[in-house]
Amino acid sequence: MSSLENAEDRAPVLSVRGVSKRFGVVQALDDVSLEVRHGEVLALVGENGAGKSTLVRIIEGVHQPDQGMLEAGGAPRAFRSPADAHALGIRVIHQEPDIIPDLSIAENLFLGDFRRVRGLFLDRRDLARRTRAMLAAFGLQDELSPWTRAGALGPAYRQLMEIMRALRSGVRLLALDEPTSSLTEDETRRLFDVVEQLRRDGVAIVYISHRMHEVMAIADRVAVLRDGRLVATRMTHEVGEAEIVQLMVGRPITELFDPSARSLGPVLLSVSGVTTRRVHDISFHVRAGEVVGLAGLVGAGRSELAEAIFGHDRAIAGSVAVAGKAVRLRSPADAIAAGIGFAPEDRKSQALLLLRSVKDNITLCVPDLISRFDFISGEDERSVAGALVERLRVRTPSLDQLVSKLSGGNQQKVVLGRWLARRPKVLILDEPTRGIDVGAKAEIYRLIAELAAEGMALLVISSEMPELLGLCDRLLVMTGGRIVADLARAEASEERILDLAMGNNLLRGERTMVA
Ligand SMILES: Nc1ncnc2c1ncn2[C@@H]1O[C@H](COP(=O)(O)OP(=O)(O)OP(=O)(O)O)[C@@H](O)[C@H]1O
Ligand SMILES: [Mg+2]
Repeated sequence: MSSLENAEDRAPVLSVRGVSKRFGVVQALDDVSLEVRHGEVLALVGENGAGKSTLVRIIEGVHQPDQGMLEAGGAPRAFRSPADAHALGIRVIHQEPDIIPDLSIAENLFLGDFRRVRGLFLDRRDLARRTRAMLAAFGLQDELSPWTRAGALGPAYRQLMEIMRALRSGVRLLALDEPTSSLTEDETRRLFDVVEQLRRDGVAIVYISHRMHEVMAIADRVAVLRDGRLVATRMTHEVGEAEIVQLMVGRPITELFDPSARSLGPVLLSVSGVTTRRVHDISFHVRAGEVVGLAGLVGAGRSELAEAIFGHDRAIAGSVAVAGKAVRLRSPADAIAAGIGFAPEDRKSQALLLLRSVKDNITLCVPDLISRFDFISGEDERSVAGALVERLRVRTPSLDQLVSKLSGGNQQKVVLGRWLARRPKVLILDEPTRGIDVGAKAEIYRLIAELAAEGMALLVISSEMPELLGLCDRLLVMTGGRIVADLARAEASEERILDLAMGNNLLRGERTMVA
């Protein structure tokens, strides 16, 4: 207790005083005052669009406040650009990983230094050695090589790389904007160890997350934003998770999952012996009305399997049938024509039309994705889009707002909305609630249950164990590109799944050699 009270007395590294920020009609921040102190982890929570990312962008000098100011080291500061903030040791890890895909891991990590020495000479061996040391700190030395092209990495690895890069330069204040949204529990634990170490070294940490259990585990204090206003700051040990959620959403959250049993119809998706470069001999089926989960660690092949079923990745062997009819999958257009929908994990690059409106993104055909299909008639467009925007609580001033102007979580909801609007026979959702706030999560779970009740077959990939266990009738566990278990909901538990998924390590080595 006393040490935590001392934390209250600690000097602030940075003070935010009366900061407001408006984008057009949206008041993103409204008179926010907050201090971040040495050696504390301050969690910043709030619904999608509450203003969290805007606040850290102001702290980092990306945006300038309309009103109010920042204070550091007892003096007012005006950050005109991130360089000003970096000079004071303020670093932000952004929601959207910012790496250069064509450069190697080593080059991305040491970009600044590398530029400085490039004119003279580049000591590749030294660079490799330093990179390996950083990878080792995260336990990734066996999985990644310093010269791997960054663009070839999945989102989890890219996120980890960003974190490593920020840690590399001296930090006094580190803000992490949803750093774990694409990490597994294991990787999250590794990150927490690093954060813990930084806190002990006196670094001030601002931690943004929608995962309340993480916030409770890691934060000393929690600041709650709602509609751009700071509604509360609490010591973590003095509040419960439920209270924070209540402060965030301003209303009580009802049951997340509907435990009632579903009635299953005929097999809608049947996959037999599918093999690609990444997955081996995959067979399973999903019935009408059934929600099947794909569990596994990052790299287990879950997204690769989804992409193969959707025709992104050509299968070397095996077959896929929808409602008993064999499907030739040469492209996503074939899959869509056969009644398969897919909301991918990397929604930003794979799915969103950033320069189109919210309505267009929900209702329009995406040219290379669904060119052959016009699912929704013109008149229905606005009402379909409007209804989904309301249900998913997309925070947008209007249906005509550009998607690029929405907050990260609200962009996710829009892509999901597109597939929910289309109602295919089979819907594959890869990490459907990543970056989505608790209130909207409940709504997405309800929608998934509704779609199942209407007779859709759903395949859900998720790294959040409670989500899989709460949502799915059956769980397939993948490891090293293979399905190693098929569990009914009643036989599944977090421990059991993790145990099965961990078998991964052996097989993963084998896969790397094959690849
Ligand atoms: N450049 C911009 N132009 C217009 N509106 C913006 C811009 N940046 C943010 N906004 C709006 O400001 C509000 C706050 O956005 P912000 O990104 O800070 O939310 P957030 O709390 O980080 O949400 P999430 O949990 O979804 O990431 C949102 O309504 C968003 O649409
Ligand atoms: Mg954000």
